[in-house]
Amino acid sequence: MNAAIRAVTRYAIGRGIEVIGVRRGFAGLLTFALAPLTRADVANVVQRGGTMLGTSRSEEFRAPEGRARGAAVLRQAGVEGLIVIGGEGTFHGATLLAEEHGIAVVGIPGTIDNDVWGTDFTIGFDTAVNTALEAIDRIRDTALSHDRLFLVEVMGRTCPDIALHVGLAGGAEDVVLADGVDDVLRLGAEIERSWERGKRWSIVIVAEAGEPEHAFRLAREIGRQRGLEPRVCVLGHVQRGGSPTARDRILAARLGAAAVDALCGGGGVMVGEVGTQVVRVPLRETWSRRRAAPLELRELARSIA
Ligand code: F6P
Repeated sequence: MNAAIRAVTRYAIGRGIEVIGVRRGFAGLLTFALAPLTRADVANVVQRGGTMLGTSRSEEFRAPEGRARGAAVLRQAGVEGLIVIGGEGTFHGATLLAEEHGIAVVGIPGTIDNDVWGTDFTIGFDTAVNTALEAIDRIRDTALSHDRLFLVEVMGRTCPDIALHVGLAGGAEDVVLADGVDDVLRLGAEIERSWERGKRWSIVIVAEAGEPEHAFRLAREIGRQRGLEPRVCVLGHVQRGGSPTARDRILAARLGAAAVDALCGGGGVMVGEVGTQVVRVPLRETWSRRRAAPLELRELARSIA
């Protein structure tokens, strides 16, 4: 997100536009936590994870009264347009703010989950995948040396993209998605067969799927039914931090500049990347439509495991 804030700030200033940063997201907007952003303010942030502006989940902004107050704050501060960085919750709030109060709004997709319709990738996803992958490569050393079955849980509230990408890139035996008990039992049988043939270790990726510690439930089930003793590793918030990958920084720079252009064109859209092209998508569509999960990645991971 810092790379996107930097790009928005410097690109806008380059176009003669004044930039104001809102601290702590919609919650900060409601408390007038606004401050000008200069070129110097965004120096030395491109390599930093997280967001220099802070973020929050605002209950108040979910109500029409909260959004009315947000619009009033923007007007009072002389703000003519708003760029929001986030996922479907952020874009939902931003759409309503635009529709109810005529505020020009542009969204930049920034979430590790990659769950936004209208863009191939969201900012943060590639970093999260690479961070998880690094951990899995380390876990593999123990799995291999100690003949162990590992269930490694990765994040993604309603979207299995991290699990599917990490599963294929990490050479996992399989990827288990939501309610994966049947999958795990089938897998347990397969693992037993492969252990009989001499391969005595496996790594299985489990998607969090809105059930943090999903992998512990599956491990108990596999232990009870198959007598295996899987080890569980929940990667958790480790995936949400750290220095962004080049791919994420480039995406953030492209989308940050495109967001400024889109705002000058009237807003009402999210900027995203499809193929190699930067695109504009109506903001409402980004959260009212659902992306199809790339399940073919799991098929491929299984076939070459
Ligand atoms: O949406 C990003 C995400 O990291 C999800 O993958 C995860 O389910 C959730 O946020 C965790 O939220 P919190 O930090 O509030 O526990």
